[in-house]
Amino acid sequence: MLSAILFFPESSAPADVSQGAQIAATCASCHDPTGGGQAIPPIAALDEQAIVKAMLAFRASESPSLVMHAVALSLSDDELAATARYLANRANAGRQP
Ligand code: HEC
Repeated sequence: MLSAILFFPESSAPADVSQGAQIAATCASCHDPTGGGQAIPPIAALDEQAIVKAMLAFRASESPSLVMHAVALSLSDDELAATARYLANRANAGRQP
């Protein structure tokens, strides 16, 4: 993972994308990937920075949510970055120009 970051500082590293995709699949069990959902806020439309910021706040317990605190703690910074990038790119890809 570290080597992927060193050699591919841009967001196009395939290993990075598949890691993000894998982790994002675990988010989808609670967050509806189509952006719907009622009790749980959708994350499909958030941009990369917003996701990282929210997750760091959950990790630090600045945003009080036991569930998301546990999720955020389970991800390394690298995993979190890859997941946020994947989710944000997927959202952009679905958007019509
Ligand atoms: C077990 C269910 C569950 C899983 C799995 C889960 N979440 Fe959440 N998530 C929640 C709930 C519930 C909230 C609302 C927390 C609150 O503010 O009370 C939330 C809130 C969020 C928010 C804040 C959204 C906003 O607009 O305020 C983000 C960002 C987020 N989750 C990202 C993720 C990511 C990324 C993953 C996968 C790594 C993930 N979540 C996995 C249940 C889950």
